[in-house]
Amino acid sequence: MSPKSKVQTLKSKTEDRRPKTKTVIVCLFAAFAIFACSSGNATRREFNIAESKSYEASLFRQNCAICHGQEANGKEIDGKLIPSLRYGDAATKPEEEIYQQIKEGKLPMPAFKNQLSEAEIKRMTQFVRRDLQGKLETEN
Ligand code: HEC
Repeated sequence: MSPKSKVQTLKSKTEDRRPKTKTVIVCLFAAFAIFACSSGNATRREFNIAESKSYEASLFRQNCAICHGQEANGKEIDGKLIPSLRYGDAATKPEEEIYQQIKEGKLPMPAFKNQLSEAEIKRMTQFVRRDLQGKLETEN
């Protein structure tokens, strides 16, 4: 191999390496972005009640939004705080308590057992846990 062609090969080797380094950096960024988006509840995409066409979302808009707010983030009425159903206390309650709260009410929240059927109360319980709180059916 002539010295000239040696230089040529070396040159092409270094040129070759540059795009690879870039690819690695891009891949690392992509991996990090995917990791950041998939880890933890904080980055979970929020369920949008106003846009949802589900039956439960429409029941929520009709029966619950007036107090808990359109997106269930809580609301202040006459200086009294109505809790968020997504975060805080509500998110620590087991399924049974949420079900009872909707069915029997707890002052000042009215009972819904006369407005909603048993099946609807169960669906609203699941709605709060699954859609608003992002919990699986088996989680407490
Ligand atoms: C008239 C207003 C009002 C309406 C309508 C209402 N709520 Fe409530 N809700 C409240 C108040 C006030 C509380 C807090 C009660 C307390 O202090 O224990 C509450 C608490 C709750 C809790 C427990 C939250 C926690 O932090 O422990 C759940 C779950 C809940 N409501 C679900 C619903 C659902 C589902 C509907 C619709 C079917 C609904 N509520 C309709 C006023 C209302």
